Amino acid sequence: MNQKNPNAQSRRNFVKTSSLLTGGLLAAPFLSSANYFSGADDVIKIALIGCGGRGTGAAVQALSTKQNVRLVAMADAFKDRLESSLQNINEAMEGKKDRVQVKEENKFTGFDAYKKAIAMADVVILTTPPGFRPIHFEEAVNQNKQIFMEKPVATDPNGIQRVLKAAEIAKAKKLNVVVGLQRRYQNSYRELIKRVHDGAIGDIVSAQAWWNNDGVWVHPRQPGWTEMEYQMRNWYYFVWLCGDHITEQHIHNLDVINWAMEGYPVMAQGMGGREVRKGKDYGQIFDHHFVEFHYGNGAILNSQCRHIKGTMSKVDELLIGTKGKVFCDEARITDNKGKTLYQFDKKTDNQPYQNEHDELFAAVANGEFKFWDAERGAKSSMTSILGRMCTYSGQMIEWDKAINSGINIMPEKYDFAATPPVLPNADGLYLVAVPGVTKYV
Ligand SMILES: NC(=O)c1ccc[n+]([C@@H]2O[C@H](COP(=O)([O-])OP(=O)(O)OC[C@H]3O[C@@H](n4cnc5c(N)ncnc54)[C@H](O)[C@@H]3O)[C@@H](O)[C@H]2O)c1
Repeated sequence: MNQKNPNAQSRRNFVKTSSLLTGGLLAAPFLSSANYFSGADDVIKIALIGCGGRGTGAAVQALSTKQNVRLVAMADAFKDRLESSLQNINEAMEGKKDRVQVKEENKFTGFDAYKKAIAMADVVILTTPPGFRPIHFEEAVNQNKQIFMEKPVATDPNGIQRVLKAAEIAKAKKLNVVVGLQRRYQNSYRELIKRVHDGAIGDIVSAQAWWNNDGVWVHPRQPGWTEMEYQMRNWYYFVWLCGDHITEQHIHNLDVINWAMEGYPVMAQGMGGREVRKGKDYGQIFDHHFVEFHYGNGAILNSQCRHIKGTMSKVDELLIGTKGKVFCDEARITDNKGKTLYQFDKKTDNQPYQNEHDELFAAVANGEFKFWDAERGAKSSMTSILGRMCTYSGQMIEWDKAINSGINIMPEKYDFAATPPVLPNADGLYLVAVPGVTKYV
């Protein structure tokens, strides 16, 4: 019996019960394996899939929880990324190095690496570029793992549908799934949105969201790289891997609005393009998007994201209701005359990246099923994809049409010698969407 929560099952029984629920859903061959049933210790084994900046951070956060955790396996497309991540994790875990136990044979590289690493763990951390998330999430659910996965959870409507389907299965199996939309795990946001849902600003009539800043890294092409390797190393600039920056970053702000609205847009239209980031180092993505999202209750969200140096920086959300406003970054609620109704003391705010893991691992250790973020993660990812479809095409597009479009922009084959979905022309430039000409994607 769990001492902290008499209603909770022990972790081992929890996983066992979860396995019974899997009958008829997905095969679960690993469940009779040693992972959960060997030995009497309560070690929670972790596998990291995607050993870059975020994956390294997430692994350290998972290893810094109160539970008896071990990092046992790592997977990355590239060996150099895996090794530098492991070094960084070891350095960050100075003093608790016994938690990092990745044997040489449990380091996996290449496109298939994820399957082997997932098999070794109780909890998996999925932090590759988002194009791969549906494949990796499906596999983790298939293998009955507890899951932390980063946002966005896909880059196209087909990927969203795959995640939604696997999310249902994860729920039926009672697998906890936390998605890295960390504002959902941040106290200031939780307090603000709770008050919105309790009616503090009346009915929401409109909203604004911003992710405006400078942009990200470029990895210059190296001799010997295939085109697939070039795109994988520079994933940010390719739509199949990244989704464009509206999907990769602005999703955070769009998700806050969806959370407050308790729903998703029914249609959208917008504009965007490449103003300064135009050269062959910048693949296909735009450097700015401005989208008007329409919600079912008539509310409109005006959303903007920009990657242009020397312009106004702002990452924030504003909600406007019949009785007041919420200024998210200030963590303040006012009435419509500007009088403060509520102020969260930001000095007391928690670390949301750490809290995601604290809450997830506590649930796993206690045998509780508490988190099913995958559906909302998928629908907020879809919100950002819908926005991209609008800015690329210049059309008004309905949610239902977009999410059911079946659009699949991923490659047919995953191999460093395979052809990626987009190739450079003779000048080294890639196909970039042209509003009014580009259809849909
Ligand atoms: N929640 C947040 O605030 C936040 C912050 C940063 C990044 N992220 C998200 O985390 C994800 C990763 O971003 P990052 O900044 O760590 O990128 P990164 O480039 O630093 O790391 C990605 C890693 O995944 C590896 N990889 C690529 N394809 C793979 C595959 N098929 N199998 C295994 N490994 C593969 C890459 O080699 C690389 O090491 C993205 O989805 C990003 O949006 C979230």
